[in-house]
Amino acid sequence: MSAIPQHIAIIMDGNGRWAKQKGILRAKGHEEGGQTVQRTLDLCLEHGVKWLTLYAFSTENWGRSKLEVNALMHLLDKYLKERTPEMMEKNVRLHAIGELHMLPDNCREQLQASIDATKENTGLNLVLALSYGSRQEITAAMRNLAEQVQSGTLAPQDITPEMISDNLYTAGMPDPDLLIRTSGEMRISNYLLWQISYAELYVTDVLWPDFGREEFEAALAEYARRERRYGKR
Ligand code: IPE
Ligand code: IPE
Ligand code: MG
Repeated sequence: MSAIPQHIAIIMDGNGRWAKQKGILRAKGHEEGGQTVQRTLDLCLEHGVKWLTLYAFSTENWGRSKLEVNALMHLLDKYLKERTPEMMEKNVRLHAIGELHMLPDNCREQLQASIDATKENTGLNLVLALSYGSRQEITAAMRNLAEQVQSGTLAPQDITPEMISDNLYTAGMPDPDLLIRTSGEMRISNYLLWQISYAELYVTDVLWPDFGREEFEAALAEYARRERRYGKR
């Protein structure tokens, strides 16, 4: 077992509080959060982490004001346009999970273009969770399996945990080893419920825009100290 997690998943929380503390617009907090994404990507490359899955926008986040949703979608589009050349330089492969059909056309098209452009890259895998909800993901997987049962190609007793994994958006990706949440909330907020069964959890009070090397390396050090028993002795 490696002291470095192969896969880190992050709930990037606290952009709004960061902006509020500074007396600036929430959108500015999200913009700053985009800088943290880049910093975190570089830290993963430096430490040899192979998978980084970022919770960028949840299914429930559609319920925020139109102003904020638009600002987030604009930032996503801008981030992908500006950063795809850098992903190419750094050998980063981009993936996305979530109800991507819900994204505005320009974002979805840009996302697909960035995914296609980076698909031969073999370094770090960056997975963006966009319009993502774990219950929705599991529901979709159950529908797929139910259709196979209904059409007679699958017997209910043959359904295995692996088959369920293979029907999630994350099919083919390793499960996260370490889940980090910034800004102190002790909850999962509908993120990767199935996939984090045995992930180590790390919550820091630091707000996402302030998350940097010190915090990242503290999380890695804490992970290295954990004993992962998987129910055994
Ligand atoms: C996380 O920051 C980013 C998204 C959810 C898109 P928040 O916007 O949730 O920030 P807080 O929780 O209000 O501080
Ligand atoms: C989780 O943060 C979603 C993302 C980081 C994209 P939220 O701020 O939406 O979660 P709650 O509302 O605190 O549970
Ligand atoms: Mg939040």
